[in-house]
Amino acid sequence: MSNTTRRALVRAFAKINLCLEVLNRRADGYHNIRTIFQSISLADTIELEWNPGEGARIALESTLDIPNNLVVRAAQAVLDETGAKGALDIRLTKKIPLGGGLGGGSTDAAAVLLALPVLTGQPVPTHQLYDMAATLGSDVPYFLCGGTVLGIGRGTELYPLPDARSGPLALICPTVHVSTPHAYELLNRRAQSEVPEPCASYPPSRKINNSQSLALALGAELPPDGWPGFCWNDFESAVFPEYPQLEAIRDRLSESGASPALMTGSGAALFGIFRHRDDLAGALQNFRKERAFAVRLIGRKQYRSMWRRQLTEHVNGDTWPLQSRYAE
Ligand code: C5P
Repeated sequence: MSNTTRRALVRAFAKINLCLEVLNRRADGYHNIRTIFQSISLADTIELEWNPGEGARIALESTLDIPNNLVVRAAQAVLDETGAKGALDIRLTKKIPLGGGLGGGSTDAAAVLLALPVLTGQPVPTHQLYDMAATLGSDVPYFLCGGTVLGIGRGTELYPLPDARSGPLALICPTVHVSTPHAYELLNRRAQSEVPEPCASYPPSRKINNSQSLALALGAELPPDGWPGFCWNDFESAVFPEYPQLEAIRDRLSESGASPALMTGSGAALFGIFRHRDDLAGALQNFRKERAFAVRLIGRKQYRSMWRRQLTEHVNGDTWPLQSRYAE
């Protein structure tokens, strides 16, 4: 690897959860979940400049001031792991709203995990990269894979599914932020009031069924009309009573013709899937007061080819593309 400057400009796509079920609280304080992650076209942009040399310096310039930015922690983890020496300058342009359940910080971190080993010419084995990602956050490993993926355990055990196909989506990002630990706390409180002690698990009847049914529907290439019953987010019943404006947005999405319409992650963003672009355009008229985006689903093939394109000038031999350690 020469001593010349290496640059990459990468896009870090957001995600939604087509289905999200929280099963039980674990001994380590996390919760076991079943979720179907889905990449969408809303993306942050990250410019990386690597200058090989002495020391290991990381500088971040961001359009938003984000304390304890995961991007820097991801870069530090790569430099520590590979022992690469030099200076890294990162410029982050945020488009993905914070605290929306869209994985904004996690996708940025995963983008650095994917790009930096290629830029420094010091690849990190896939299993190690997935471990580093899981250390940074429960959603980060998903973004190493992209597309439609079943996530279980903490959300870090991943099984790629056939790509979901749908018409365009409206993504509505209200100004309220719901912190993930707070959303889990609300869910626990609610479960405790419903289930007698010890509260090791939540009402089990429909658990597993939604994500399993949705995975089967995707496998059978059913259109979104065949998903709504299975598109489910356990956080809605916990978060909506505290933030009724979110439920109102979901209902307005449904009334505007979206099917399904759902909150993503632990909130507060909501999405609605439409059949045609014209339907979406009409519906967006009803959300002029909110921050609303027209987005589309991104399949895994597209996700991976975008990554290949972004890094093509730096890729050498077999360092790319990454394979999921769980499937494919
Ligand atoms: O893994 P991450 O740092 O994104 O998680 C943030 C918080 O969300 C955790 O500290 C935990 O409170 C909660 N969490 C959880 N179960 C998960 C994922 C996150 O309880 N599967």
